[in-house]
Amino acid sequence: MYLVIDGKKISQEIKDELKEKAAAMKAQGEERCLAVIQVGSDPASTVYVNNKKKACTYIGINSLAYELPEETTEEELIGIIGELNERADVNGILVQLPLPKHINEERVLLAIAPEKDVDGFHPVNVGNLSIGRPGYVSCTPAGVIQLLKRSGIEIEGKECVVLGRSNIVGKPMAMLLLRENGTVTVCHSRTKNLKEITRRADILVVAIGKPKFVDESYVKEGAVVIDVGIHRNENNKLCGDVDFERVAPHTSAITPVPGGVGPMTIAMLMSNCMQ
Ligand code: GUN
Repeated sequence: MYLVIDGKKISQEIKDELKEKAAAMKAQGEERCLAVIQVGSDPASTVYVNNKKKACTYIGINSLAYELPEETTEEELIGIIGELNERADVNGILVQLPLPKHINEERVLLAIAPEKDVDGFHPVNVGNLSIGRPGYVSCTPAGVIQLLKRSGIEIEGKECVVLGRSNIVGKPMAMLLLRENGTVTVCHSRTKNLKEITRRADILVVAIGKPKFVDESYVKEGAVVIDVGIHRNENNKLCGDVDFERVAPHTSAITPVPGGVGPMTIAMLMSNCMQ
């Protein structure tokens, strides 16, 4: 039998711990405040942003919402970030991605002060992670580590394979697994003999962005499989990068979609805000 890792339950545990921490902090006269900036009205982004605001309210973190029109210029956006960087009452700044095409994402992310970059996207934070210094860590991969640890899955000494090399998930995921003393391989779209490599994995993290890409032929018997993907299929049903029905019986533990990695991202964002 395999364990279905319950991301909803684990994220709730983390949020409840943070809620206690926030209350204790408040009793000492200290508060946290997250500024969330959305440019335009992409419906998926609106859902994410609203969930972030709701999580702040639940935990007791103040939030400032900036809902900027689609026509906002890069200069205006960077100007607002500059003001938030200076504000002592704001300790976290998050710019929801993707940004409209006329805005250079890299320039915007670079404008956020690293010490307020709760998304962990600034090169200073990415660099700190890679050399083992403290700093903010990208929320989704940080959430994967929590899922593993809180499910009693040991990482040290394990063969860990990360499928996907994005700056937001694949690369920081590899760094975090390495920090936990895993033996880490990163695979991507140009990897040769992909299945040969993924079948070595004790822990396989899939963040490749293709619905149901991974079937049982990619997975070693008894492996732990973490699915970071989220897609909507033709019937409007959510699915991941892993074909859950086919893969699950071959694993010792697996995350479902929805209810696996997804809920952890916000929990870890909140954790970063409380840091
Ligand atoms: N868009 C999709 N995921 C994320 C995320 O984790 N952070 C931000 N800022 N934007 C996103």
